Amino acid sequence: MSDWSVEQIEKLPSEAQSAAAEAAGLADLERVRVGYLGRDGKVTQALKAVGKLPPVLRPAAGRAANEARQGVEAAITARRERLEAEAAAQRAVADHLDVTLPGYGPEPGHRHPIMLVLEEICDIFVGMGYEVITGPEVEWSALNWTALNYPPDHPAMDEQASFYVTDDVMLRTHTSPVQIRAMRARHDEHCPVRQLAWQTPPMEVLPRCRCSPAPVRVVVPGRTYRRESVTLTHHDIFHQLECLLVDEGISFADLHGTMATFVREYFGPNTRIRFRPDFFPFTEPSADFSINCEMCGGRGCRFCKDTGWVEIGGSGLVHPNVLIAGGYDPAKVSGFAFGFGIERLAQRRFNIEDIRTLYENDMRFLRQF
Ligand code: DAH
Repeated sequence: MSDWSVEQIEKLPSEAQSAAAEAAGLADLERVRVGYLGRDGKVTQALKAVGKLPPVLRPAAGRAANEARQGVEAAITARRERLEAEAAAQRAVADHLDVTLPGYGPEPGHRHPIMLVLEEICDIFVGMGYEVITGPEVEWSALNWTALNYPPDHPAMDEQASFYVTDDVMLRTHTSPVQIRAMRARHDEHCPVRQLAWQTPPMEVLPRCRCSPAPVRVVVPGRTYRRESVTLTHHDIFHQLECLLVDEGISFADLHGTMATFVREYFGPNTRIRFRPDFFPFTEPSADFSINCEMCGGRGCRFCKDTGWVEIGGSGLVHPNVLIAGGYDPAKVSGFAFGFGIERLAQRRFNIEDIRTLYENDMRFLRQF
């Protein structure tokens, strides 16, 4: 046995054990294993050398070599198990999942400034006994115009250049069509005849029933659309609040009293109100209404364009044809209505100069409210 003595062979397991103990990781240990058990490893060489010994020496040397191989294998396996356990323990620390840590919840949202203003206004009307209702933003043109007493091709429609979906369906240009919906819904709740076929086309613009059911007292907040160039002060999307009251014996005094109560609640107790004659097809008489400018106390400033008054919206007594379109008899009931834009109020309340910032969804802007 040229290079290998039995003594040398017998030392291989303990040598291998020390080498394995020094292996810092599994890759190191693999190099140790190859150094002993690989094709040119020491154990392999020893085993090969045994084959070349004179027959008389072979059994003892062979036994020694086989035992050495088993010893080396055992040493390496023991070290591998140890290293694997250490690695697993390290992974367990690194990947540790602490189920008691708080999770990542969704970031809580909050009201948009437009909604803050709308909700505050609706609250005031709820306090006066009004019901808050909504209507569709995609509306029958029959309700946006015809049922509101706009004659065909009336020039007032030009002022409200519109987005049409089909000839009969459009994005509503104001919340006023919900006046018709509110009256008809009340009618359908109460009228035993229920002959107002109006939910599906063709729209019946002037129903025959005039049974004049229970009173209507509603406010309608909502989004409206007009074909406008978007500027600092105008947008093609905006919001309105509509108010409608229909009952027996309603007069302009009720309109004035309701509106005065509202503006004092919303703008402050010293707010005064001014009506000026105006025209709307769905009211008669019609008036625009303004409040005194609190910025300058009426002396004139850029907020009121030097007039001392700030225009808020339109109003009037509900036109008989509109009552009829809603299923009410103008001989039995009367009503008032008004409507105004919300953006301008929100801009004043929060000092927002550019109307466009209200729709850009820039979180840096929205987080301020
Ligand atoms: N709908 C009108 C507009 O958008 C505002 C308006 C005027 C509403 C008079 C009313 C009203 O209810 O009576 O310009």
